[in-house]
Amino acid sequence: MTYRRISVTPVAGALGAEVSGVDLRDLDDESFREIDQAWMEHQVLFFRDQNLEPEHHKAFGERIGPLQVHAFLQNRGSEGHPEVVVFESNADRPFVASGWHSDVSFLETPPMASVLRGIEVPTHGGDTMWASMYAAYEALSDKMQRLMSELQAVHDTAATFSRGAYPSESKAPADRPPSALHPVVRTHPVTGRKALYVNSAFTRKIKGMSLPESQAILGFLYHHMATPEFTVRFRWQKNSLALWDNRCTQHRAVADNLQANRRMERVTIEGERPV
Ligand SMILES: [Fe+2]
Repeated sequence: MTYRRISVTPVAGALGAEVSGVDLRDLDDESFREIDQAWMEHQVLFFRDQNLEPEHHKAFGERIGPLQVHAFLQNRGSEGHPEVVVFESNADRPFVASGWHSDVSFLETPPMASVLRGIEVPTHGGDTMWASMYAAYEALSDKMQRLMSELQAVHDTAATFSRGAYPSESKAPADRPPSALHPVVRTHPVTGRKALYVNSAFTRKIKGMSLPESQAILGFLYHHMATPEFTVRFRWQKNSLALWDNRCTQHRAVADNLQANRRMERVTIEGERPV
């Protein structure tokens, strides 16, 4: 792929590229089209020195699609921006999302994309990692790919929000906790590539299997997915921004400097039902 408006520099073998030469506050259609192409090719894109207001952050997300308002997280951005979710950690509230996950996969239509901005970042530590679920799927044997492609899994919030693991946020609604049944292997609607779609934060079990069978398979997949060769790691700076595809990647924060102040803001873009 050649790009004329933007510069795209891959940073790892399986996924991830840094994009330069653009100001996301002022993006013409051709530059956006190239960003979209680079995103499909690299799955997660990194931008530096993007001094955005919440309006710009939302406007960039809306170029990709309609923004999603989180089902129950209460830690919202400033007044008038319910689509912005704030992730803050510091010495009093030492928490980051350090389990591998695809955002909000417990919904029947999980967000296709997330756009995360570094507002206040530690001098060291607090990186984010992504893993390519294309790479994880493609590395399986034919027999394992076929078996996984027959399976569906239940996703819910039982292992995360419902037990209050996110201290700054409300718990999932107890009366109607969100839950969804998704294929273990999904096909990306744009690229047509297959990707594993179970994650340790939100996948409860594989449908139609005993709990020990389900745990054995999911345990294998979680270990396999985190293979270093499938991952990329991003060192945040103030005004860094990451755009990732929840349909073919998972991510986690690295919880290695939890005393430091860290403030991130995220918007998510509506997605389709995984198939
Ligand atoms: Fe996340």
